[in-house]
Amino acid sequence: MEIRQFPDGDSYVRVPNAKEAMGKNAILFTRLYPNQDSAIFQTLLVLRALRENKARSITLVVPYLPYSRQDKTFKEGEVKSAEILCETLREQGVSHLITFDCHFLKREGEFEYGGLKITNLSMNKEIIGRAREIAGGELEIMSPDEGANYLVKEFGGSSMKKVRAGYGEGEGAAGGEEGEIYRGIGKMEMEKDVGGKCVLIIDDMISTGSTMLKAVENVKKGGAKKVICAATHGFFLKDSLKKLREECEKVFVTDSIETEASEISIKPAIEKALEQM
Ligand code: R5P
Repeated sequence: MEIRQFPDGDSYVRVPNAKEAMGKNAILFTRLYPNQDSAIFQTLLVLRALRENKARSITLVVPYLPYSRQDKTFKEGEVKSAEILCETLREQGVSHLITFDCHFLKREGEFEYGGLKITNLSMNKEIIGRAREIAGGELEIMSPDEGANYLVKEFGGSSMKKVRAGYGEGEGAAGGEEGEIYRGIGKMEMEKDVGGKCVLIIDDMISTGSTMLKAVENVKKGGAKKVICAATHGFFLKDSLKKLREECEKVFVTDSIETEASEISIKPAIEKALEQM
């Protein structure tokens, strides 16, 4: 692909060999993070090129699906951006989306959302396997909230209970930057006895790190001996990776978003999913 930017920021996209897609089942691999808005628009242009060149079908592989956190509306005038993204991809010719630990789907499997067929793969097995190697002994597996319970339940793990504070505009000192939408953690509750144990806390994503930091604080208060933090998608906004590293034995994520804490490759899972198509 030839992807460039005009001086004013508009995207230029060219698929030089687009004709080769004619009559074929095309598979497009792309990351939609970071710079999600321009990455999404550029992908729409690539999809159009494939369609104009008469690809028979298009499978889109997107390791992390942006906007997956807003599939509901809470306040009047909000829209479900996750739905709009999926509908738009379908309208632009995507017949099948393959992604990982998609926030609103909350389990591994096949789905239809916004009229789009989605295969949601989970990296929980690989993450838990790696954490077991690091722990080298018994491991207590936990998720920081019930939404991520699907990641831990088949491994006998349990979930904390996260109570979110309301959304507010950041005011610098409060956590979020000025003008940024910021949602703090109200409190986190835990029933499990983690005293003297090595604990893995696993989530679908670590964004500002506030959920993970609160969960770490919680298990440490409960007397955990060692804490390992992991997630499928690592954004590590601001200095959250540094802060987590200071508090934990180990922090790691997959390479669905490439970060310095990416230790697990999603490639084998993509290959397996494509083989099964
Ligand atoms: C929320 O339900 C998600 O599963 C994550 O726990 C959350 O999005 C992580 O965000 P942050 O790192 O900003 O707390």
